[in-house]
Order: sequence, then structure tokens, then C-alpha cells
Amino acid sequence: MPSSFKRPDWEQAPVVVIGAGLAGLTVALQLAERHRVIVLAKRNADEGATAWAQGGIVGVLGDDDSVDSHVRDTLDAGGGLVDEQTARYIAERSAQAISWLLDRGVAFSPDPTGPLGLHLTREGGHAVRRIAHAADATGKAIHDTLLEAVAQHPNISLRARWMAVDVITSRHLKREEPTRCYGVYALDIDAQRVETLHAGAVVLACGGAGKVYRYTTNPDTATGDGIAMAWRAGCRVGNMEFVQFHPTCLYHPTDRSFLISEALRGEGGLLKLPDGTRFMPAHDPRGELAPRDVVARAIDFEMKKHGVDHVWLDASHLGEVFLREHFPTIYARCLALGIDIARQPIPVVPAAHYTCGGVVTDLAGRTDVPGLYAVGETTYTGLHGANRLASNSLLECVVLGRSCADHILQSDPPANVDAPDWDESQVEDADEQVVIAHNWDELRLLMWNYVGIVRTTRRLERAWARIQLLRGEIDDYYANFRVNRDLLELRNLVDCAELIVRSALMRHESRGLHYSRDFPDALPVSFPTILGRAAHSRERRTDRQDRPSLFD
Ligand code: FAD
Ligand code: SIN
Repeated sequence: MPSSFKRPDWEQAPVVVIGAGLAGLTVALQLAERHRVIVLAKRNADEGATAWAQGGIVGVLGDDDSVDSHVRDTLDAGGGLVDEQTARYIAERSAQAISWLLDRGVAFSPDPTGPLGLHLTREGGHAVRRIAHAADATGKAIHDTLLEAVAQHPNISLRARWMAVDVITSRHLKREEPTRCYGVYALDIDAQRVETLHAGAVVLACGGAGKVYRYTTNPDTATGDGIAMAWRAGCRVGNMEFVQFHPTCLYHPTDRSFLISEALRGEGGLLKLPDGTRFMPAHDPRGELAPRDVVARAIDFEMKKHGVDHVWLDASHLGEVFLREHFPTIYARCLALGIDIARQPIPVVPAAHYTCGGVVTDLAGRTDVPGLYAVGETTYTGLHGANRLASNSLLECVVLGRSCADHILQSDPPANVDAPDWDESQVEDADEQVVIAHNWDELRLLMWNYVGIVRTTRRLERAWARIQLLRGEIDDYYANFRVNRDLLELRNLVDCAELIVRSALMRHESRGLHYSRDFPDALPVSFPTILGRAAHSRERRTDRQDRPSLFD
């Protein structure tokens, strides 16, 4: 493929940030003083997990708190797999992160007597109150503020409804050089055209992969695109078996899933059986405030034991005034569904919530491919280990988003190259779009049934076999038909499903969020599961020769 070198220039080669959640917006704002930045969001810019975050963001701020204490809690929750250096790096910068958000105008819930004038709440696994929040809609307060700043910044171009398909690496240029990232192929959804975006650096900030499960607290954006794109580009991926199930998702037979924040338990909410008795003390001395893996497994156990569809979360004793003030969103949403939480318990079930694993990065967001960075839920940085501590995720987005931008600011732009344009000359429109919908449903259901909170080797192997069948169909579709968002997301989901199951099969123990009935104990020594290039050489190369992308 011909390639011509041009003058290296950040103007010609802007940074492309894929994702407009907290990770992507932080990187963009921090970069924009010196570089032109393009931010892509595959749906409307206000859609994503960030805007849905409820409980809050960790800030080590109080007189009763310390970096050591936060690191200890993160290590305890993480089941022996947290990288202490990462945890300390992030904890040490949490106060700066909160100040950075305050400086941008985020309106956290105030408390004149609190540190920085903020009210701090508490969640499971935290020794003290250290969660800064905006009532129970923290994510929306943060996201709206940063989105506004991004929209007004002259150096940032925000492109909503643009979906990254794959990153462009040396392989697309047919170069023998060590691989590097040069840009991204992105689908302009409204124009139905795949464009080539040249970039000095690409940042994957695409969020997690919760949609790979049938029941999830996650928004529709969470289809693991960043993880799948990085994997296809040759990056290592770590700890994908550790999918966090949030213990308390609202159970409602028809309504779309809705989280009942852990902060409700932090403020005194109690989990109960249908007869009104508490069950958490029998599972863990920390009761309702045990780490999430423990609480989710306890609920799963009790639901199966009693043959019930959900358990109850009772916050009625906290009183209407308190609940309305601290949990206005949850209060209103439940009331709209006929549940008055000041008078009735809330029916809750666990649901897939957070992808603890992801693209392996260092503390500057660097992946294995030079020029390709990753930040936020897309990554595996070592912070979350085998189970994420509540409210550490938003913090990671801000702290590592800023370090990622700082690293890019210090680096030279690469020489611009001419990457081949996307070639659709030999594909046609999909004949049966419904097949894609069926594959979506099948994949998500099998992940829920076979790769859930409690696993067995046999079930994982069943899942693996079915995923291979689905993969064949999806690859075939991808190779022969014009791409659209549903197909691209399905292709990413099946990659993530495969990574989760492969990682789960490799872990012959139970640890944190990965519980196997065949290996119920933890091994004396713990290792992360890192899948790399060797594991990644695939016989299947079903892609069309002429379509620039796909697998190394
Ligand atoms: P997101 O905020 O999910 O943003 C992803 C972005 O990437 C979106 O803009 C999306 O459109 C875009 N994108 C994805 N793929 C592509 C593509 N191929 N092309 C273009 N764009 C793409 N964490 C906490 O710390 N505290 C909390 O209180 C908390 N509460 C939560 C409540 C809920 C209901 C949920 C679901 C999660 C919660 N979390 C919480 C987790 C936290 O919200 C997320 O981990 C965090 O917001 C992830 O931020 P992100 O920027 O990585 O991704
Ligand atoms: C919640 O509010 O329960 C979610 C917090 C988190 O996921 O960190």
C-alpha cells in the first residue's frame, strides 16, 4: 500500500479520543490546551456509564482518612490481585482529582463542616466515609459539567454518532516496521460511511462490556468496543474473568434495569428475605457493607435456596425526608413504578455491572501498541484486582485520564502516513438484519446462564462451544455485509465473551468475582490472567483480503 510521509504536525494529526465518558472527556480537556482533539461518541454524547453513576467518587479527604487506609480497602476488596503501586498512585491523587472536578464546576453535595466543604458518603468495603457525591446522581453532575466544557472548547471537536470500528496500525499500511497506531476507521452513523481518521495518538475510552450479559446495570454503549479493538490490534488483555455483579439492581419484570446505589446500604439500608429477616450477617460479619462479590454471591445463594426471584432492600427506616434529600433519583424512579421506598422494601437482584479486566496499560494509559492509549473502564491497570472497590472507577478515570494526557503532551507526533481507505466495494447490505438481533440475544443469554456469579468448568466449556459457533456466523456477516452499529457491537461483544470465558477457564481457583464450584478455594499464590499475542494467534482469518482491518 503506498504511503507518503508528510511533515509531523499535531494539527494534521490530532489526538482521537474514542469515548465521551469521564475517561475520554478528562483526557480531551487536559490535552486541548496544546493539541487539537477529536472526541467520538457512538451514540448521543450524554449516553454512557458515567452519566448513570450514582454513589459517587472516592476522595481521600477526611481527617479520619489516609492514603494508606484507602489503599488497604482497595487491596482487601481486590482479593489479592490489586497492584499496590497502581492503587497508591491513584489514592495519592484522589484529592487533586476532586479539586480538578470542583474547579470545572461540578456541584457535589455540600456539607459546610466537611473537607473541601463536601458531604462524604459511605459504601461497601470502605473503612470510612470518603465518597464525594452529588446526591444519587453523581455521574450526571460530573458528565454534564465536563461535556459542556468540551462542547465550548475551540480545540475539541465532539462527534456524536461516530463509531470507531478498528484502530489503524502498521499492518494496514502493509509495513514491516514494529507495529504502531496511526488512526482509526470510524463509522459516521448518520452518513452510513466509514471514514479514515489519521491521528497522532488514539485513546480508547470506550467504557466496559456489561452488555455481554442479559441482565446488566449498564447502558447500551457498554459493548466492550475498546477492549475488542485493542485485542484485535495486538494488545494484551488482563483479568477478563472478573466481571462485577452489582448486588442491588431494581427487580422489575418489565422496566429497564435500574441501579439501587450501594450508598443506600452505606446509609443503613438492609437486605432482607421475603419473611423480613436479614441474611447478610450470616454470610459476612460486615453485613450489608461487605464487598460486592460477597454480597452478590450471598443474594444469589439466598435466591436459589428460597426459590425467589429477588430479595428485598429495606430503607424505609431511614425516613422520607432523608431519602428524598439523599436519594432523590432512586426515590422518584421507584415511586414512578409504584414502590414508595419510605414505606416499602425495594425488590432487588444482582446484575452485571463493571468490567474489572480490560486492555493492559501502564499508569500513563500506554498499551502495547505505540500511539494507542486506553483509559477508564476499558482498561486493566491493576487497580481493581479480582473485585473493584465501590466508587474507585470514576476516580481512576480522572487520575489516569490526566496522566495519559500528560504523557501524550510530552510525546512527539508521529509522521503522518496515508492509510488505505475503507473498502466497501465487495460487500452488500445485510439480507437479514434479524439474524444479528438473534445472535445478540443468544450471546447475552448464554453468558448470563453459563458465565454468571457462580461458575463450573462444564458450563464454561458449554459457553465456549456456543461462542465459537456464534463467532463463525458473525465473522461471516462482517466479511460480507456493509457494517452498521449493531453488527459492529455484536462483533465486539463476541470478542469480549470469548476473552471472559477463556480467562475464566484458565483460573483454577475461586477468587474475588470469579467463583467456580469445581475450584472453590483460592490458591496460595495469586496471578492476574493476562492474554497476549501468543494466545491470540487465530487460525480463523475470515476477513476479506481487501477490507483493511481485522486481526494481526
Ligand atoms: P463510559 O462513561 O461508559 O463512556 C464510554 C464512551 O465511549 C461513551 O461515550 C460511548 O458512546 C463511547 N464509545 C464506546 N464504544 C465506542 C466506539 N466504538 N466508538 C465511539 N464511541 C464509543 N463508578 C463509580 O466510581 N462510582 C459510582 O457511583 C458508579 N455508579 C455506577 C452506576 C451505574 C448504573 C453504572 C452502570 C456504573 C457505575 N459506576 C460507578 C461505574 C462507572 O460509572 C464507569 O466505570 C465509568 O463511568 C466509566 O467511564 P468511561 O469513561 O470509561 O466509560
Ligand atoms: C453505586 O452507586 O452503587 C455504584 C457505585 C460503583 O459502582 O462504584
